Amino acid sequence: MHIVKTVESLCRSVKKIKSQNKTIGFVPTMGALHDGHCSLIRKSRRENDIVVISIFVNPSQFGPKEDFKAYPRPEKKDILLAKKEKVDIIFYPSEKVMYPTGFLTNVHVDEITDRLCGATRPGHFRGVTTVVGKLLNIVTPDALYLGQKDAQQVVVLKRMIADLNFPVAVKVCPIIREPDGLAMSSRNKYLTPRQREGATVLFKSLKDARKRALAGEYNAANILRRMRTAIRKHTPGKIDYIVCVDAHSLIPLKQLKGRVMVVLAVKFGQTRLIDNIIFYI
Ligand code: PAJ
Repeated sequence: MHIVKTVESLCRSVKKIKSQNKTIGFVPTMGALHDGHCSLIRKSRRENDIVVISIFVNPSQFGPKEDFKAYPRPEKKDILLAKKEKVDIIFYPSEKVMYPTGFLTNVHVDEITDRLCGATRPGHFRGVTTVVGKLLNIVTPDALYLGQKDAQQVVVLKRMIADLNFPVAVKVCPIIREPDGLAMSSRNKYLTPRQREGATVLFKSLKDARKRALAGEYNAANILRRMRTAIRKHTPGKIDYIVCVDAHSLIPLKQLKGRVMVVLAVKFGQTRLIDNIIFYI
């Protein structure tokens, strides 16, 4: 496994790989790798000759009051885990490499970035699309692996890739959960034991919503009311949003129909957790 820190040396490796007609699967991450990230790496490993991952805690996708400084950076552990998962190349750039002095260009996707997480995290998706656009240009992979955990990120990045003609296939991988159902996240370690216990209600309420919808309750307001009550009863968490949306467009639904996604964000102290579930009506 190679750890590559500059754009130039990554481009040299990619050129060599392409000259051998090998395919590249790419998994962008911010490190603090867990089983969720590993599931993406494993799928990429199965489907490609070469697996490249990036580890970069991207400052431009964090708000001024968010956890950029506190975000975990367990470098040695991440490298060992990547090695174990048979990653070929870790692209590990510094902030200077990604945003050198004089950097002025950003990628912005309109409309769908204003809703849901975009409403409470202004500028977040602009940071995500800019960094992923750059990474795609540097790595030039055949396939990009993303997790359904970050549902809006998937929709936004797919839009960017289609609109700007990035020649890459997007593969979306299912949410990996802890045994009690909490979606794995690098931020779960910020939770106090009480918050951690309460957080299990998120997936429970999503499953309950799916069960009710599949049993014939198509009124979104009724489904959401029940979820809010359950979350308020079982946790000290503060609901940021819970919405039933069309899974392709992210447009809120009053009546459930088609490919429905129930998405939520709940704040436990300073820690904001997101989760979602998709089903067909
Ligand atoms: P990060 O939060 O490190 O996540 C990297 C990838 O792992 C994302 O595609 C995310 O959806 C996926 N992932 C995280 N937890 C998961 C889980 N429990 N199950 C399945 N997949 C999971 O998302 C980012 O980094 C950044 O925004 C990035 C795309 C790297 C741009 O900076």
